[in-house]
Amino acid sequence: MPVKHPNPGDLAPIETASRDEITALQLERLRWTLRHAYENVPHYRQAFDAKGVHPDDLHTLEDIHKFPCTTKDDLRRNYPFGMFAVPRQKLARIHASSGTTGKPTVVGYTLNDINTWADLTARSIRAAGGRPGDTCHVAYGYGLFTGGLGAHYGAERAGCTVIPMSGGQTEKQVQFIMDLRPEIIMVTPSYSLVIAEELERRGIAPEDIPLKVGIFGAEPWGEGMRSEIEAKLGLDAVDIYGLSEVMGPGVASECIETKDGPVIWEDHFYPEIVNPDTGLPVADGEEGELVFTSLTKEALPIIRYRTRDLTRLLPPTARSFRRMGRISGRTDDMLIIRGVNVFPTQVEEQIMRDPMLNGNYQIVITRDGHLDHVEVRCELQHGVDSASSDQINQVIKRLQHHIKTNIGIMTRVSIMHYGELPRTQTGKARRVYDQRPRQE
Ligand code: DLL
Repeated sequence: MPVKHPNPGDLAPIETASRDEITALQLERLRWTLRHAYENVPHYRQAFDAKGVHPDDLHTLEDIHKFPCTTKDDLRRNYPFGMFAVPRQKLARIHASSGTTGKPTVVGYTLNDINTWADLTARSIRAAGGRPGDTCHVAYGYGLFTGGLGAHYGAERAGCTVIPMSGGQTEKQVQFIMDLRPEIIMVTPSYSLVIAEELERRGIAPEDIPLKVGIFGAEPWGEGMRSEIEAKLGLDAVDIYGLSEVMGPGVASECIETKDGPVIWEDHFYPEIVNPDTGLPVADGEEGELVFTSLTKEALPIIRYRTRDLTRLLPPTARSFRRMGRISGRTDDMLIIRGVNVFPTQVEEQIMRDPMLNGNYQIVITRDGHLDHVEVRCELQHGVDSASSDQINQVIKRLQHHIKTNIGIMTRVSIMHYGELPRTQTGKARRVYDQRPRQE
């Protein structure tokens, strides 16, 4: 496949700078951010004062540990504009994350912030192999969600021709992919499989699909899912990470030449990993909760934001910046089933081991008396629908066994026919249906 590898001229000098240069830049920017937050956001002034720290106390990057963390609750408490460090008139755009409970989280950007965001998403697209003149099909949802517009501005900045498709209308997505012949697609992994199914339904083989690279994110996905998507769409799949509170897509993104975890754009975001229970920092390489401090954001500087995403910091490879491992789960995603901690991604990993099963699945949890019951619903691949009941029983037994030995829980496995489980139309797939009564 003619994948374009970046040559040094395509990279910003900081992407290949020495660690010393990166550290010096981070320190300078961190000082600015702490002062900017302290002087302009009452929440930060109070939180710093309560901890007895002042922006002048930062002498090295490690001193960041002295400063208080910020949580989603802090953003909610200051809804809608309380965390902003600039007057409302200076905001060029507002986005909001839906939030399944309570108030949405509102985030804002100055024109400079929008520019930085476009630069970083463009850098992410280049890391994925995209080049000026490529056509980029954006199937992340447009609107308050940061996915669509974030990808859009980045693709334009990268010199691409953008197809602002948004989510949904799967038939039209497929028609445009085949007629307008984009090389790049930006979409959630779960929705990409819906598009792949429609292509398959029309009898279009992976090698006849014009796409060469897909930039997938906004939800967790594992290596098994990567292989599935690459095989079905005939492209290289890379991982893009981001969150609205920190910016949107393009906080970190994977390089096509290594595919070894998203590179964190450390010149704009300072990452830490902390123990989710104690909030204390852990060493690079150890798993814990990802925490970010923005280094250049004007409208919404964010200090030590607890993302709730669990992962590890990894040493630099294709760029001078550190990488992050795949998100293994979220602290608020963790299911406790009969006392065993389970992340949906672990179940996904076991499902994807079976070539008879596709990437659609649901985890349904119920309680009978005091006992939790877990049902894993998965679906047969297209074309193996005629499997005999013997074969299906073997799939069930294999999956139950893999889940039991690797995760440690007993499950009921239901195998559905191809197409029976609901598909996401717009974005992030819903995998977990926890029907247990709420504990007060
Ligand atoms: O999902 C921003 C985004 C859009 C990222 C498009 C990538 C592509 P939020 O809606 O605020 O923002 O959700 C952020 O989504 O804390 C993670 O839990 C999850 N997430 C985002 N990217 C990934 C990824 C956007 N590559 C939340 N892998 C984050 C796993 C991801 N989880």
